[in-house]
Amino acid sequence: MRIQLNYDLSAQNTFRMKVSCACYVEYETVKELEGLNFDRLPKPLLHIGEGSNLLFTQDFPGTVLHSNIEFIKYVDMGFEDVPVMVGAGVVWDHFVAETCRHGLWGAENLSLIPGEVGAAAVQNIGAYGVEMKDLVSGVVCFDLQERRKVKFSREECRYGYRDSIFKQPENKGRYVVTSVLLRMSRKYSPRLDYKGVREALGIPGQAGKDGSTVPNPVMADPIGPLTPQQVREAIIRIRRAKLPDPEEIGSAGSFFKNPVVSREDFARISPDGSAPHYDLPDGTVKVPAAWMIDQCGLKGATEGGAAVYDKQPLVLVNASGTATPQEVLALEQRIINGVQARFGVTLHPEVDHI
Ligand code: EPU
Repeated sequence: MRIQLNYDLSAQNTFRMKVSCACYVEYETVKELEGLNFDRLPKPLLHIGEGSNLLFTQDFPGTVLHSNIEFIKYVDMGFEDVPVMVGAGVVWDHFVAETCRHGLWGAENLSLIPGEVGAAAVQNIGAYGVEMKDLVSGVVCFDLQERRKVKFSREECRYGYRDSIFKQPENKGRYVVTSVLLRMSRKYSPRLDYKGVREALGIPGQAGKDGSTVPNPVMADPIGPLTPQQVREAIIRIRRAKLPDPEEIGSAGSFFKNPVVSREDFARISPDGSAPHYDLPDGTVKVPAAWMIDQCGLKGATEGGAAVYDKQPLVLVNASGTATPQEVLALEQRIINGVQARFGVTLHPEVDHI
């Protein structure tokens, strides 16, 4: 266990904001977490993962906690499903890499998403047609309010788009995820219906209504049975081409959520229907915020050292390496105002503002 006062958080947030916290605690086991003297720690408490979805807007007056609980335990009962218990502090992509190596399906489309397992379960990370909730069987937490262990089934997690019970205002800071039970599978189950994935694998398909590629029913997987590793590699190629390399340039991934609008609003946004969009089962329409930002001419826009990433305008980056929270916030506001003025849609940040 490590406890430090007046700790510099530059290395604890992928946006690389130069901020500090009054106290920083890093623990290795659930026992260490339970044994902490919470009453004596500066408040408020903030539990972070890899800090890949956070924007610190100023120095943090309380205690930042971080888990180093790292284990991956396979419960192989010889069936198709392979339950895996994973410590909250495991780097998500290390887990994906390992399960793909073992030929297990489930996580491959979520390759290269930054962050750790605990935060992935809180945030319900998603990409290329798959969400974390599709894998979660249960989440084990330490309840800071009651100071005891609690378990949540997948249903109890109340997952939604980048949302869960753990993100509800009344639960903010209450539950610390310590491990997650995931259901991986031996059953051949590639998910290739998202735009670009089949192309990246060299599998022909047909264009969907929204311009995406849908599986060609006649030529299902003509390049032969795929492995999770092959799909992982394709996803990595797609992400590397579009998203900034966290080693080189600071960012927190997608900065905004994709807005969901009514069919009438979509007709107003795109009278000829040519804008990219996804029809949702409830009759509403999801419109990529990246497209809206692009249409507003804000690709590459800057505020001081902060910039709209030119290959994927949903991502704001610390282009200079020395951008301040104020510059990022100014850029965020400019985008919200621009999209509001042009489309009458309010963008909401996906990144947590602290
Ligand atoms: N687009 C443009 N101009 C651009 C780039 C994109 O108009 O310069 C439009 C295109 O029409 C494109 C559409 O935006 O089809 C969507 O872009 P993309 O497929 O890259 O996905 P996204 O909706 O912008 C979401 C997630 C990403 C995830 C990808 C892939 C959110 C907030 N973001 O982005 O997640 O990787 O889909 O599934 O849902 C993250 O959450 O941090 C994240 C990176």
